[in-house]
Amino acid sequence: MASKKVSFRGLLGGAWRARNVRRLSTLAESNASAHSSQHLIDLEYQCSAHNYHPVPVVFSQAKGSSIWDPEGNRYIDFLSAYSAVNQGHSHPKIMKALVEQAEKLTLSSRAFYNDRFPVFAERLTSMFGYDMVLPMNTGAEGVETALKLARKWGYLKKGIPRDEAIIVSCCGCFHGRTIAVISMSCDNEATRGFSPLLPGHLKVDFGDSAALEKIFKEKGDRIAGFLFEPIQGEAGVVIPPDGYLQAVRDLCSKYKILMIADEIQSGLARSGKILACDWENVRPDLVILGKALGGGMLPVSAVLADKDVMLCIQPGEHGSTFGGNPLASAVAIASLDVIRDEKLAERSAQLGKELREQLLKIQQQFPDLIKEVRGRGLFNAVELNSKALFPITAYDICLKLKERGILAKPTHDSIIRLTPPLSISLDELTEGSKALKNVLKLDLPKMKKEKPNTPPPHTSSNVCDRCGRNLYNSS
Ligand SMILES: Cc1ncc(COP(=O)(O)O)c(C=O)c1O
Repeated sequence: MASKKVSFRGLLGGAWRARNVRRLSTLAESNASAHSSQHLIDLEYQCSAHNYHPVPVVFSQAKGSSIWDPEGNRYIDFLSAYSAVNQGHSHPKIMKALVEQAEKLTLSSRAFYNDRFPVFAERLTSMFGYDMVLPMNTGAEGVETALKLARKWGYLKKGIPRDEAIIVSCCGCFHGRTIAVISMSCDNEATRGFSPLLPGHLKVDFGDSAALEKIFKEKGDRIAGFLFEPIQGEAGVVIPPDGYLQAVRDLCSKYKILMIADEIQSGLARSGKILACDWENVRPDLVILGKALGGGMLPVSAVLADKDVMLCIQPGEHGSTFGGNPLASAVAIASLDVIRDEKLAERSAQLGKELREQLLKIQQQFPDLIKEVRGRGLFNAVELNSKALFPITAYDICLKLKERGILAKPTHDSIIRLTPPLSISLDELTEGSKALKNVLKLDLPKMKKEKPNTPPPHTSSNVCDRCGRNLYNSS
C-alpha cells in the first residue's frame, strides 16, 4: 500500500512558504535522485552501529507535524522524536534564532562568558521559579548532573557518611543510557552485558507511596535523592495514581530527601501542563529538562534547583564543553517563547482529550485487541492485548501505520506511544486515529494469515533481572 504523495506546496502556508517552498522542493527532488530510502537504510546498516531498531522510513524534510521521505511521500509524525519536537519540526521562530545566533557566535566554552547563556539562565529560572540552572546537552547528562548534585548535597548538607549515599529510583524507569543511569534501569536490554553497574541505588515500585515510605524509613539517613518520572514515558506512558506526586513531595520533605523530577520527556507542555508535576501542583527540589528545550534542533538539557542544592557544586567539579553554549542558549530561549506564546500546554491538554475520545471509540470497536487507552495531554499510549494480537506485535502494527502515512513507535511488545508535535491539527490527529482503526480492521486479519505462527515470544526481557518483577504487565 503506497503512502500518500503530497507536494510540499499544498502543506505550507504564508510568508514562510513563499520564501522557502522552492528551496524545499529542490532539496527533496535532489535527495530523491541521489539516494533512495532503501539505499540509505542499507548504508546505515552497513556503516553504523546497530543500536536501534527503527521503523523503516527515512526522514528527508519536515515541517510542523509533516515529514517527507526522499521519494516525496508525506507522513504525519506521532512520535516527535520522543517529545523533542513539541514545538513542531523546523519551527520558523526557533530556526530564525538558530540561524541568527550561528552567524554571530556559536561556542565560547564556559572558560569564558558569552552574551546568551546568562539571558537563558535568567529566563529559565524565572519561568520555573528556581534560583539556579546547570546547563548540559543531552538528557542523560542532565540526569547525571542531578545525581551528582544529590550525592554532593547528601554529603555536605545532610551528613551522609562518605561513599554511602543512595539514590532511589522506580521500577520501569527510563533516564538515559550512561553507566550511572542504566545502573538504575530495569530494562534488561539496557543493562545486560554492561556490568558492573554502579552501587548506591535502590528500586521501588512506581506509584506506590507506601513502598517508598518503607524504604525511606529503613534507609532514609543514607538516601540523598528520589529520582522519578512524573509520567513514565518509555515504560509506556504510565500515569501514577492521583495523589502520588503530593505523597512523594511530603515523604521527601519528611525524610530530608531530594525530590528529583525527570521531566525530560513529560515536561515542557507534553502532558498538558508546563511540567507534569503541575498536575498536582507539586514543586520538586530538582527538575531535569531536555528534549523540547532544544526545540528539536539542538541537544539542550538543564537541571533546576535552589542555591542550597546548586551551590554544593563548586568550580571545576562538573561541567561540559558545550553546556550553556550561546547557540543552544539562543535556541532554548526561542523554544520556551514558542511554548508560551502558542499556549502549547493548553493546546496539548485540549487536543489530548480529543485524541483519547477517538481512541476510546476504537477500543469500543475492538475491545479484545485494545487493553487500555491512557494519557495526559498529547502524551498517550494504546496498550494492545498481546495474547489476542499474537503473533503480531506492536512493532508490526507500527509498520502498517507507516504504510498508511502515520509514524509511531512501539514501546515494549504491546504498547504504541502516540506523542505527536503539540502543534498538530485536529484533522491530522483524526487521520492518525483513522489509520489505527483501519490497521486493526483491514490489515490485521491479513497480517495474521501471513505471519507464521511462531512460538510465543520469549518474555523474560519483561522480567527485570534486578528486582524480578514482570515490568510491562504484558498479557
Ligand atoms: C525521561 C527521560 N529521561 C532521560 C532521557 C535521556 O535523554 P537523552 O536521550 O537526551 O540522553 C530520556 C530519553 O528518552 C527520557 O525519556
